[in-house]
Amino acid sequence: MKRNILVTGGAGFIGSHLVRLLVNKYPKYHIINMDFLTYAGNLENLKDVEHKENYSFTKCDICDFKKVKQVFLDYKIDSVIHLAAESHVDRSIEDPFSFAQTNVMGTLSLLQAAKSYWNGNFNNKVFYHVSTDEVYGSLGDEGLFTENTNYDPHSPYSASKASSDHFVRAYSDTYGLPIIISNCSNNYGSFQFPEKLIPLFINNIINNKPLPVYGKGENVRDWLFVKDHARAIDLILHKGKLGDTYNIGGFNEWKNIDLIKVIIKKVDRILGREEGSSEKLITYVTDRAGHDLRYAIDSSKLKNELGWEPSLQFEEGIEKTIKWYLDNKDWMDNVTSGEYQDYYNKIYN
Ligand code: NAD
Ligand code: TYD
Repeated sequence: MKRNILVTGGAGFIGSHLVRLLVNKYPKYHIINMDFLTYAGNLENLKDVEHKENYSFTKCDICDFKKVKQVFLDYKIDSVIHLAAESHVDRSIEDPFSFAQTNVMGTLSLLQAAKSYWNGNFNNKVFYHVSTDEVYGSLGDEGLFTENTNYDPHSPYSASKASSDHFVRAYSDTYGLPIIISNCSNNYGSFQFPEKLIPLFINNIINNKPLPVYGKGENVRDWLFVKDHARAIDLILHKGKLGDTYNIGGFNEWKNIDLIKVIIKKVDRILGREEGSSEKLITYVTDRAGHDLRYAIDSSKLKNELGWEPSLQFEEGIEKTIKWYLDNKDWMDNVTSGEYQDYYNKIYN
């Protein structure tokens, strides 16, 4: 079947992996990447697919309702996979307004454009919203987030994502829009902007810069290789039940400080330094405000209903990831020039 799929945020970290997967796997689909190219969006991430006939790029702010509506018309969009967002918790603490604007108003603008363009004909249509496990709040030492866990967001980022999830469900309940939502745990892999823990720390180890560990480093995150997230989205898009929510996670929990020490050892080894010698760079800094203690996803629904499992063990995924950042110094230099230094000084000095 032919499909015209609008992917928003396709020039970002997860979006670029998803676009690459869809463009290569489905030559009959037309993949339209709508991205506003904020600091986090980079067309370099898609160099290997930009020439493909079944790929188009359109620079557009998802909040620009008029323009978004025109994109639906121009490309006869029948499916949306919505990833565009402001995505970094620390930035949301500095500037909550832009998170409400992009994540809430932007999602609303897309929902309204889909509703208006599809105009009640929902056959073979889907609005797939990509969300986060952070909407569920924070766990204690025990338990996992399931699809039935109540929403309890704590950061402006997670509050804005929770709000967008509610709007997506409201469009399903009120107007019958065919929707699917997935909530995923922390992703890692290539092309991630180095404001997030893993690429930031790899880059700082390479450059012998301090490694700013928030609080005591005891917070726990559940890490999933980004390509496995993209595989899950592909599967849910094709086989998921309309109206349903799917949790995606790797059953791969790490205390920050333990993860950091593993990364240090591996980077040291690859760089020919004494293994563990870069631990001297660890610097404990003031904790993040409202820092969620633990995230952990129960993705058994996705496994039992659709047969999805992570394809990579963490050991292999993190090794690949570290090697990618070491082999792609130009990419890193490119994204850390300009505005990045101002951001870094603001957050860490
Ligand atoms: P990212 O910050 O790397 O990329 C976001 C992309 O959205 C960028 O390309 C940016 O240019 C674009 N964008 C931002 N504002 C826009 C606007 N107004 N109009 C159009 N495009 C805009 O984010 P990511 O880590 O790839 O996350 C993608 C999605 O997945 C987000 O919705 C995020 O909440 C969700 N998610 C992320 C993770 C994670 O670990 N990174 C985990 C679970 C869910
Ligand atoms: P991050 O990658 O920002 O993802 P999220 O906050 O969405 O989970 O952070 C992952 C964990 O690492 C989180 O507990 C905060 C911590 N962290 C630090 O200790 N230092 C840092 O400089 C950053 C960016 C994160």
